Amino acid sequence: SPRTPLMVGNWKLNLDHLQAIDLVQKLAWTLKDAEHDYDLTEVVVAPTFTSLRSVQTLVDGDKLPIKYASQDVSSHASGAYTGEVSAEQLAKLGVSFAIIGHSERREYHNETDELVNAKILAALGQGITPILCVGEPLEVRQASEHVAYTLAQLDGALAGLSPEQVGGIVVAYEPVWAIGTGEVATPDDAQEMAQAIRARVAETVDADVAAGLRILYGGSVKADNVKEIMAGADVDGALVGGASLKVDQFAPIAGFR
Ligand code: G3H
Repeated sequence: SPRTPLMVGNWKLNLDHLQAIDLVQKLAWTLKDAEHDYDLTEVVVAPTFTSLRSVQTLVDGDKLPIKYASQDVSSHASGAYTGEVSAEQLAKLGVSFAIIGHSERREYHNETDELVNAKILAALGQGITPILCVGEPLEVRQASEHVAYTLAQLDGALAGLSPEQVGGIVVAYEPVWAIGTGEVATPDDAQEMAQAIRARVAETVDADVAAGLRILYGGSVKADNVKEIMAGADVDGALVGGASLKVDQFAPIAGFR
């Protein structure tokens, strides 16, 4: 595949900045011992906003090849938006990726496709790679509407983007019923959706952009199931929640062969 695999640890609302430093250090040491080749598999962690500065200091100081992401980004550039963090502020902290439209934000913070679209544009405008999250809840899967539902989210998120802009994003397919539940989608489920996402981008955006688009799977990925998930031809990596908080889980995921 022409696409470099990408493993992202989404720490969600866990770890303070000292614990964040500790985990990044341990991860870097473990991957170094395993002679991990970061050019072959990119490794990204997504701490809370309060830890990003500490992670930046560590990564820069020790020249670690680990990249870091924010878990969200404001759609606004600046102004009277209490509690928001802008893409420009994140870019200045060396943030390379931003998770956008995670199902937890869609559910608990009422994020719409329109807002997700605006956040993608804000991130791209500052050279930050959006990790766009899409995926269906259980009842949609049970009604066998999961492909249409997920592709509608994709269309909404990508509305108005140029092929070049779409070429600058990563898509993560996360079926809501598999997040934090221990219930992992089958490799066929993950591959089916990744293929559908790629086909949709080929159809609505550009064939070359689609061929280069990195598509991740997320939902109860663990060290012992990452290999089968990654077997799907269109699955280029994983967005890992719970298992990314433990080095003995996330290091093998990042370095799986
Ligand atoms: O962003 C990560 C996903 O929500 C997956 O979380 O690995 O804890 O199921 P999980």
